[in-house]
Order: sequence, then C-alpha cells, then structure tokens
Amino acid sequence: MTTFLIASITADGLIARHPHHLADWTSREDKQFFVEMTKKAGVVIMGSNTYETVGRPLKDRLNIVYSREKNYEGVEITQKDPAELLKELEERGYKEAAICGGSTIYTMFMEADLVDKLYLTVEPVVFGVGMNLFNKEFDRKLQLESVKRIGENAVVLEYNVIK
Ligand SMILES: NC(=O)c1ccc[n+]([C@@H]2O[C@H](COP(=O)([O-])OP(=O)(O)OC[C@H]3O[C@@H](n4cnc5c(N)ncnc54)[C@H](OP(=O)(O)O)[C@@H]3O)[C@@H](O)[C@H]2O)c1
Repeated sequence: MTTFLIASITADGLIARHPHHLADWTSREDKQFFVEMTKKAGVVIMGSNTYETVGRPLKDRLNIVYSREKNYEGVEITQKDPAELLKELEERGYKEAAICGGSTIYTMFMEADLVDKLYLTVEPVVFGVGMNLFNKEFDRKLQLESVKRIGENAVVLEYNVIK
C-alpha cells in the first residue's frame, strides 16, 4: 500500500483560514489535478471537518472519514489507528490511498510515517494567518521529485518522503 498526501497551499504555506473554511480559493486546474490523482488512487481519507467543507461523498472513490461522533451517508466512518486502516484497505485490494486532510489528519499520517509522497499545489494567494499543513512539531526530510506549472499561476510540488 502506498499513500500520498495531497493539499493546496497558499504562497505563505497555509491550507485554510480556519477549520470550516471552504476550498473556494483553489484553481480549476488544481481541482482537476485533485480529481485525477484521487480517482487513480481509489481511496480518499479525510477528517470530519474537511468532509463537511466538501459536503458530499467524492464520487467513484472510497470515502473514509475520521470521526468519533458523526455519521454521513455514502462514506465509511473510522476511528482506526492509521496503520491498521491502511492494512485493512490493502486486504480489501486497494493499492493506493490519498490523504486529503485537514491539518489533523495530515499530521496523524505524517507523524506515523505512513506518507510516501506529498503533492502540494502552491496557489497565488496569501492568508497571513490560518491553518498550517501540519499542527504538531516533527522533523522529516523530503526529496523534490518534480515541479509542474498548472494553469497560469499555480505549481504542483511533488516530494518523496525520505524514510
Ligand atoms: N488546502 C487544502 O488542500 C485542504 C485540504 C483538506 C482540508 N483543508 C482544510 O482543513 C480544515 C480542516 O482541518 P482540521 O484539522 O480542522 O480537521 P480535519 O483534519 O478535517 O478533521 C478533524 C476531525 O477528524 C476527526 N478525528 C481526528 N482524529 C481522529 C481519530 N484519531 N479518530 C477518529 N476521528 C478523528 C475528529 O472529528 P469529530 O469531531 O467528528 O470526532 C476531528 O474533529 C478545513 O478548513 C478544510 O477546508 C484544506
């Protein structure tokens, strides 16, 4: 099982202004990139705050949502340890999973060393204050695999996590 973290970040490195901020600031090209990458993976994993900003299951993908108290139609709710979740997905025949945020879920998988790659789309906007990609202190080294311009104003940075 391989995993990648996929996020859109501002030029000042933030993923949202606050936990309920909608992703209405990202480019059309980035949205297309997200759909293409996550459909290829087949599984999207996110937290309930992120799911609520999306508001519906992402179609043609298995939607896994972390929550201790909520329930949504058309998604699988989980509280599993990330390693256990990935092992079960592998047993069900999935080979790749997309870690789709937010900060809490990105941090949980990164901290557990369960992220193989990062795709970060840098959008031409700054928020000044907001939510970081991660919300805990840790130290990981990355290798830059590719830089791709999408549309007029955004770039996708592809990193491998050095294990
Ligand atoms: N720019 C981007 O690419 C991008 C991508 C994704 C998200 N975002 C943004 O990120 C923000 C949300 O991030 P966030 O950190 O606040 O929330 P989040 O990671 O989306 O979800 C956090 C929630 O996940 C559940 N959870 C966390 N750990 C759990 C565990 N061990 N077991 C079971 N459930 C667990 C809890 O839900 P319950 O409270 O329901 O128990 C918790 O409140 C939004 O503004 C969203 O738009 C941005």
